[in-house]
Amino acid sequence: GRTAAVIPAAGRGVRLGPGAPKALRTLGGTPMLIHAVRAMAASRAVSLVVVVAPPDGASEVKNLLDAHSLPERTDYLVVPGGDTRQESVRLGLRALPEAIGTVLVHDAARPLVPVDTVDAVIAAVLDGAPAVVPGLPLADTVKEVEPGEKGEPEPVVATPERARLRAVQTPQGFDREMLVRAHETVAVGGEGATDDAGMVERLGAPVVVVPGHEEAFKVTRPLDLVLAEAVLARRRA
Ligand code: CTP
Ligand code: MG
Repeated sequence: GRTAAVIPAAGRGVRLGPGAPKALRTLGGTPMLIHAVRAMAASRAVSLVVVVAPPDGASEVKNLLDAHSLPERTDYLVVPGGDTRQESVRLGLRALPEAIGTVLVHDAARPLVPVDTVDAVIAAVLDGAPAVVPGLPLADTVKEVEPGEKGEPEPVVATPERARLRAVQTPQGFDREMLVRAHETVAVGGEGATDDAGMVERLGAPVVVVPGHEEAFKVTRPLDLVLAEAVLARRRA
């Protein structure tokens, strides 16, 4: 089958602060979403990109795609998203044509992922892994706590061995049927998995981690915009 990328871009970007929806904010003068679309379409294996737009912003996103140069060998679709990332991804998956056998799910908020990372994820899926996530070792030690009131000391419950932890990124790659089954099985609004691979794990299917990339970081808070602009400037230099 062919490979498609679903890009959830329907979030508001609350942690980034007031302004346009996060995916429409610009980096180096170009909307983050366009960077993310180009990052997926840069892979020659990707024949379709499905953008999941803010629920009331699908026509604006279509106009944006029309207004920017994108590889012609790739098709582009825009669908309206939902209230949660999980719902947005589900809506994107429902728009996939029959011929798609492999699906990438990529956050619009990770605009700078290099094509080599995209290709490595696709290659691992085509090699037979039903679910593949890019991940990096952690710099910080991680504590599990008993969450308390904001600002109050929180008791530490455990310290997982750092060397065994990976911070996971996107694009995450899947056998299409496996991901669709995960999204249609896990109860809507049920206890939220924070990534797509987590939903596949809940089905009991194997998930593997391949090396991620520093530049695939997620733009979440204002400081991340500073870093993203610096990475872009370095690329253009
Ligand atoms: N997303 C989505 N639909 C939602 C919520 C999130 O498509 N209802 C997308 C975002 O647009 C983003 C990706 O999921 O590309 C990762 O989510 P996150 O970084 O949390 O973005 P936001 O939800 O927009 O940010 P915040 O949580 O700070 O509001
Ligand atoms: Mg969010």
